[in-house]
Amino acid sequence: MIKVTFVCLGNICRSPMAELIFKDILNKQGLSNKFDVTSCATSSYEIGEPIYHLAKQTLTKHNIKGSHIAKRISKQEIESDFILVMDSSNYRDVMKLNGVDKNKVFKLCDFTDNPRDVADPWYTRDFETAYNDIVDGCTAFLQYLKTNKKI
Ligand code: 4NP
Repeated sequence: MIKVTFVCLGNICRSPMAELIFKDILNKQGLSNKFDVTSCATSSYEIGEPIYHLAKQTLTKHNIKGSHIAKRISKQEIESDFILVMDSSNYRDVMKLNGVDKNKVFKLCDFTDNPRDVADPWYTRDFETAYNDIVDGCTAFLQYLKTNKKI
């Protein structure tokens, strides 16, 4: 079992989108039983909140189902095999946490041919670009695991 945790600032937009998109990809490839996938926040701003309505709307538009309640990163998530953050700010925040194995922390889109931050839709309201970045990152991450014989 490979434990994967997606991380962003609030855990109501990008990282829960990534969790549900990655679960959808795994499901379609019959790989769900090999993974334990979750998401969490670096901050406590939105703890207990469901997925932000515009993020949920974007997922629904692309036929991706599921729900998530925002939680802050804790020991359980820190012990994941892969901690996949959305942007450089998340990366710095996660690297400062006690007990983090720095070799397990990656920016999601660094697995792609075009390493970058996942676009932050919070101020731009552009959830479609975030969605596309996340699909690109999740697809490239899964390919990385296959190429490196981790699954
Ligand atoms: P997320 O988006 O980190 O993708 O979940 C945000 C959610 C909340 C805030 C910022 C970004 N906030 O400042 O409350």
